Amino acid sequence: MNAQQSQAQTQVSPARIRVFDTTLRDGEQSPGCSMTPPQKLVMARALADLGVDVIETGFPASSQSDREAMALIAREIREPTLAVLSRCLQADIDISLRSLEAAAKPRLHVFLSTSPLHREHKLRMSRGQVLERVVQSIRYAKQHIDDIEFSTEDGTRTEEDFLHEIVGVAIAAGATTINIPDTVGFTTPEEIRGIFQRLIAQVPGADKVIFSAHCHNDLGLAVANTLAAIEGGARQVECTINGIGERAGNCALEEIVMALKVRNAFFEADTGIDTRRLVPTSQLLQRLIGMPVQRNKAVVGSNAFAHESGIHQHGMLRHRGTYEIMRPQDVGWPDTQMVLGRHSGRAAVEQRLRALGYYLEEAELDMVFADFKALCEQQRVVTDADLQHLMQDTGDGEGYRLASMTVSDVGQGASATVELSDPDGRRVAETAKGDGPVDALFAALSAATGVQLSLESYQVHSVGLGTDARGEASLSVRHGEDEYEGTGTSRDIIEASALAWLDVANRLLRQRRATGNSEQLATA
Ligand code: KIV
Ligand code: ZN
Repeated sequence: MNAQQSQAQTQVSPARIRVFDTTLRDGEQSPGCSMTPPQKLVMARALADLGVDVIETGFPASSQSDREAMALIAREIREPTLAVLSRCLQADIDISLRSLEAAAKPRLHVFLSTSPLHREHKLRMSRGQVLERVVQSIRYAKQHIDDIEFSTEDGTRTEEDFLHEIVGVAIAAGATTINIPDTVGFTTPEEIRGIFQRLIAQVPGADKVIFSAHCHNDLGLAVANTLAAIEGGARQVECTINGIGERAGNCALEEIVMALKVRNAFFEADTGIDTRRLVPTSQLLQRLIGMPVQRNKAVVGSNAFAHESGIHQHGMLRHRGTYEIMRPQDVGWPDTQMVLGRHSGRAAVEQRLRALGYYLEEAELDMVFADFKALCEQQRVVTDADLQHLMQDTGDGEGYRLASMTVSDVGQGASATVELSDPDGRRVAETAKGDGPVDALFAALSAATGVQLSLESYQVHSVGLGTDARGEASLSVRHGEDEYEGTGTSRDIIEASALAWLDVANRLLRQRRATGNSEQLATA
């Protein structure tokens, strides 16, 4: 079906796709993503608010922490179904069933590998033994719980006749959801669509259960494969916030949900997700596990609705549909961001200046635009404060400059002394202590300038190689509605950090002079 045909079909009622979130299990078990039970509870609340249908809380037989997390979550979260993962072993199933006792809507999720590679090298079991173990496990569990999901681990690399056989026996034994994982992210959209189509058409009892897709992202195809599985008949998708998960991760919840929403007419399928909660939920996870998403991450990356290039900004100013296929507000961003930088054109600069209250004649705009372009050669992003500064011909000096600094971190805590020349050329020196060298340094700079900065982000990178290597520090702060970025470069990363700090402080001071605002420059 092409896009035009799909738009013409507006009357078909969309299929309801269940969203099974495994951030707290498959996501959490990957390197750098672990969460404590209270953190999992915070995340589970957010997932419930988001409107997921199932939250997989963990793998109780694998750790005490997962059991505690499930207990905490089950006590409070009553609406989405709560699932736990279990191997096809009676001892594991017993532990899982105990964990599920407190849940209002419990689901047991059992899995066993089915592919020849896993059967031979991991399980050392024959096809017959795998079949028998699955039947025994599901029958055993069925005596205690009705909602049972069975996953054929490495399902997409399983011989298709065997996949049909095992899915058939799992359904007959009592499974209510059949999940076909692409465990190693190996399949392709066309292939997985066919796998689901044939399973659903040919396996006895397939019409009585929900088919589910669980795709990993090793080839960057997790979302595409999950969409294709839906085309093949899957009615549950397994995914994680920000796509966290084993190796390259799992299908990203925010991406699959928005693909279904934006292309609803094409896929004729929808979820129950409150999409305005996507960005807050993503940001919550980023903070909890300390793993930021890349700026260009679809939907939730900070560049996802930011435009810098002149052509794009011009188009956006005429009609936002030129370069945006969804509204930022629909996924939880406040608005589109027009970033002014080297690639921006006159139209965007003029529009921003107008928003700041400057209505310029052509000739004036020419001059400011030339200054703007010159500034872009020195810094990546030009903020409102920078524009204000360009508009003032105040000759306001160069701001604070670093004359010297010493930082020590021996004995009891770190201490730093900085000597600066102030905007009038006078020397100021201050010493401060802190929890570490950078903390002490920033405290000394704050004491010397009277500027308090509350950092949103602080990063240090290495630039260049070998003897040319230098440290580049970048930091950003929020002051009211505005975000200020600063950078500093030096062979010494502590000095680079001081330069970055002063870069931001000088911008704030310039803005204070520009707006005649005498308030204390303290960021909340
Ligand atoms: O990727 C996988 O195969 C899994 C199963 C345990 C569902 O996570
Ligand atoms: Zn997985």
